[in-house]
Amino acid sequence: MSTTAVGKPMDRVDGRLKVTGAARYAAEHDYPNLAHAVLVTSTISKGTIAEVVTAAAVKARGVAAVVTHKNAPKMKVPEPFGGEKPSAGSTTAPVLNTDQVFWFGQPVAIVIAETLEQARHAAQLVRVTYQEQPANLTLDSAGKVTTPKKIMTEATTVEIGHAERALKAATLKVDAVYETPQFNHNAIELHATVAAWDGGKLTVHDTAQFVFGVQADLATRFGLKPADVRALAPLVGGGFGGKGVAWPSTYLAPLAAKVVGRPVKLVLARDQIYGCVGGRPPIRQRVAVAADKDGKLTALIQAGRSATGTTNQFVEQFTFPARHLYACPNIYLTQETIALDTCPPTFMRAPGECPGTFALESALDELSYQLKIDPVRLRQINEPDKDPTTGAPFSNRKYQEALALGAEKFGWNRRTPEPRSMADGRMLVGLGMATATYPVYRMPGSARVAVSADGTAVVQSGCHEMGMGTATAQTQIAADLLGLPVEKVRFELGDTNLPFAMVAGGSSQTISVAAAVSAAVAELKGVVLKLATAGPLEGLKPAAVAVRDGGLYRTDDPASGESFASILQRAGRKSAEAKAEVMPGAEMQKWSMHSYGAQFCEVRVDPDFGTVRVVRFVGAFDVGRVMNAKTARSQFLGGITMGLGMALLEETHRDGRTGRIVNADLAEYMVPVHADVPAIEAYWVGDPDPHTPMGAHGIGEIGITGVAAAVANAVYHATGRRVRRVPITPERLL
Ligand code: MOS
Repeated sequence: MSTTAVGKPMDRVDGRLKVTGAARYAAEHDYPNLAHAVLVTSTISKGTIAEVVTAAAVKARGVAAVVTHKNAPKMKVPEPFGGEKPSAGSTTAPVLNTDQVFWFGQPVAIVIAETLEQARHAAQLVRVTYQEQPANLTLDSAGKVTTPKKIMTEATTVEIGHAERALKAATLKVDAVYETPQFNHNAIELHATVAAWDGGKLTVHDTAQFVFGVQADLATRFGLKPADVRALAPLVGGGFGGKGVAWPSTYLAPLAAKVVGRPVKLVLARDQIYGCVGGRPPIRQRVAVAADKDGKLTALIQAGRSATGTTNQFVEQFTFPARHLYACPNIYLTQETIALDTCPPTFMRAPGECPGTFALESALDELSYQLKIDPVRLRQINEPDKDPTTGAPFSNRKYQEALALGAEKFGWNRRTPEPRSMADGRMLVGLGMATATYPVYRMPGSARVAVSADGTAVVQSGCHEMGMGTATAQTQIAADLLGLPVEKVRFELGDTNLPFAMVAGGSSQTISVAAAVSAAVAELKGVVLKLATAGPLEGLKPAAVAVRDGGLYRTDDPASGESFASILQRAGRKSAEAKAEVMPGAEMQKWSMHSYGAQFCEVRVDPDFGTVRVVRFVGAFDVGRVMNAKTARSQFLGGITMGLGMALLEETHRDGRTGRIVNADLAEYMVPVHADVPAIEAYWVGDPDPHTPMGAHGIGEIGITGVAAAVANAVYHATGRRVRRVPITPERLL
């Protein structure tokens, strides 16, 4: 395949739709006779519903129905996500089919009315009283503690050598505790579902990162065949993991529509997203690192506790980076969960790698001062030649190249090593760095490719566009595979009527779908060749022919061949198509496959007020071959921006008495705005990984990893103050 389009900074194919407002998101779908639903949610964290008084709401103007656990049709709770079958289950709580309350914000009633305003008004008239029980709300509470046997497919506990013994024997070491709070999802597009029944068939327009998971979820809940559920999400306004599984709007909109016998729209209010959509759980980690005087690591320990819900088992894989980042003969890693009476936590951009790198990369920075070795140099000294915990060879690790690239672009050599040694007027200047990493994941995928006699092609896969440029990158990939200009290729996605695709998560979508498109193009070759019953291709076997320049060409005589359009026209066909389904190979077992990067941060700290300003940020990444230079850069910038929020602003605050989230809105849960974000530069090594489709890695999540540590390390360099808990607020710094 010649890479004519791949790698180019091509504009989003849906960019015009977006900026002109023509793009239609889930909540913008309308149906004749559409009713509006509004949720009533619990105001305690744990207990039972004593009484629900709905009379006033039922009588309110425009109200079609009020649904509570007393009159809701029964739904079967599907298996949670992560089991054998595709599923988007987020919690085992039988929401609206129980008088039990499992968390503050759990839906306890739905009001359906003619208009949104009427539904919202009537929802306020629903009176719920509870029998309250004491709730476990913090990492130190009496919640059930579990050491899971496995995290994904990997053992939870990893032990190489004798880490505690090596730590004890060392003189140069750091042994510290790092904390990250709960973070909540704040995609600009609110979780929303428009549901319409047609007899026994259900259509949902949903804010989903996994339409086939939604299909499976709803089929189970309502006792339908999956084929009788159509889920559509061709455009999603940000997901970040918060739309990876089915949260209440997804199944309560269809429930409400069933009750009132008409289509229903249900949009969660912003505070309800905090209340009934999972966020990133709070985590406390101990990291201990020791090194000899030359800086070679002799011990590496990372252990800690993350929260999960009582109605799910979500394990934030924060010890994963330490499994492969650095060479060390003595490594001990383990983690446990504590079940809290809170909304079940879920995936949030780089779950695990994001908080894990905050702790590990902060500890390594602390160690660098003990050793009096430059932090970049320390990471050069400890480069492993194979995966230090599995022994597997790396597929294509280019971490050192990314580190060198980042250091050079950032101008790391300006840095004077001592803390508080650099200033700009009265401002303290700090330069810090940290490693970024994220695994290479690949999932099953399928695609259909059709070429037409008019010279165009349509490529389809039921994958997802959440703003990252899925359709654009896949258009580029398909165009190059077919040898067609990008203008002649259209990519369709986000619909369960299209070939199956997995969740847009784990930074896996691009290569998973690309592999399927590639396999479908290979199938298509055979299909079209059969139609070439005359001309230069007549009688040839597929192996003797290559797909190129929008047609088929002889491998033994590259000048000899014919375009798809010409073959189809002569055969009297309008189009020809082929479909392929591919599973990931055994590459993940054979190779240690990860992306790497280096994050460099410059801060100005006001010594009197303790305010931190990030004035410059450079990320350099080793992510295989980049499919689109523009959308890739945007992904890195977005990830880094979200990391700056984690470092300095974001934190979910809970009222310890009730469990209510007190800052459940964008006024008080602070995320970075333009004024908080400096010029960010993103670079990449670009070396194709020989063991992945297209030589690419995922890029959606790595950008956030390492950012909080780079900021904390820069703050330490500026001030001599080590802050081991984010966000780094003035009160924590002074
Ligand atoms: Mo990502 S947190 O896997 O959507």
